Amino acid sequence: MLERLTGHEDPYPVYEAIRAKGAISEEGGLYVTTSYAVCNKILRDRRFGVRFLDSSLPAMTSLGLQPTSFLEADPPDHTRLRRLAAPAFSPKMIDSYRPRVEKIAESLLDNDSMDLVQDFATPLPVMVISDLLGIPESDTRSFAEFGMRAASGSPLGGTYQRIIELFERLIHERRRQPGDDVISSLVAAEDERKLTPDELMGTLLLLLLAGFETTVNLIGNGTMAFLDHPEQWELLKSDPDLAPAAVEEVLRWAPPVHYTGRVAHEAVPDLHRRMRRDDGIFLILAAANRDPEVYPDPNRFDITRAQQPEHLAFSSGIHYCLGASLARMEGDVVFRALARKWPRITQTAAATFRESTTIRGFASFPVSRS
Ligand code: HEM
Repeated sequence: MLERLTGHEDPYPVYEAIRAKGAISEEGGLYVTTSYAVCNKILRDRRFGVRFLDSSLPAMTSLGLQPTSFLEADPPDHTRLRRLAAPAFSPKMIDSYRPRVEKIAESLLDNDSMDLVQDFATPLPVMVISDLLGIPESDTRSFAEFGMRAASGSPLGGTYQRIIELFERLIHERRRQPGDDVISSLVAAEDERKLTPDELMGTLLLLLLAGFETTVNLIGNGTMAFLDHPEQWELLKSDPDLAPAAVEEVLRWAPPVHYTGRVAHEAVPDLHRRMRRDDGIFLILAAANRDPEVYPDPNRFDITRAQQPEHLAFSSGIHYCLGASLARMEGDVVFRALARKWPRITQTAAATFRESTTIRGFASFPVSRS
């Protein structure tokens, strides 16, 4: 059922049809759930992982790239690698990035009309993650192109090779002259044999892709939600301090990542009597975020709603998004800046969806300042 979805269709009716079949159902030989409680339980349950017994098979969380990353690893590898990348995302580091993000947002909003995706939602997180990785400005274009292609499932062509070469160059440079960026600290860890060269490259690819492809769609989906709900836009404009709550509601109502997957590493009779060791299950996070058992009137976009419990847009358990605080800060900065500098933002032509069904968002979204 999921593979029948294309980028342009509204997936929510399909999710509701799956929900109607029960908490866990079988679709074409695969298990699937739309239930908040089941998603949350499986994501936190140590009987599930992301890899199949046959290690040559791609993980349920595969990004389709080689080398793979810790998003695609189970403990103990996951634990070791995540720990090495985590310091870059500490609350102190995020606070220190904020002024830079504010400056970037301001400068990108200095025009009177634009394609929101191409000219604002993409360059902003690309610039932020490039900063974080210490990537020279001259190389950020290749990064954006790579991310867009990877996320939309388009052939990567030469872009992938260019990115690998760029990272190899940066690794070499940081080894000779270390800085205080993530690449330098990962290179130092590699020198101490805490991770292999492949694991280092996999980590950098993950940070690059996860670092902006998702945030692009937080900005695009959020802006569209506000244009479709003018009364919510008025609310935000009248009280910009609602921005953090607005970010949470966008993530619940129109999340960038629609689903993920897990593999049962043993039978789980308490969850499903037929699910066996090495069976995979799709967790539709976007549907869990609209589970009527958890959120009253779940299809309503309401930036003042109580976000209890937390939505699953950033997943849960050991793979909980490492960049969640960074994404939240970027969203906060962006919606405040838009409300202040583009209070009468108007859509000027039809928006188009990107092709991917996992990552949902717009490929283009033309807007003007008034
Ligand atoms: C709105 C923006 C974002 C959304 C919706 C998002 C969503 C997610 C989700 C759903 C997962 C877990 C998938 C799973 O459990 O299978 C994840 C993992 C991850 N995210 Fe994010 N993400 C966002 C922004 C970011 C940013 C800005 C970064 C920073 C570089 C980042 C880095 C990561 C990393 C490194 C992981 C892997 C964590 C692990 O496997 O332990 N994400 N993200």
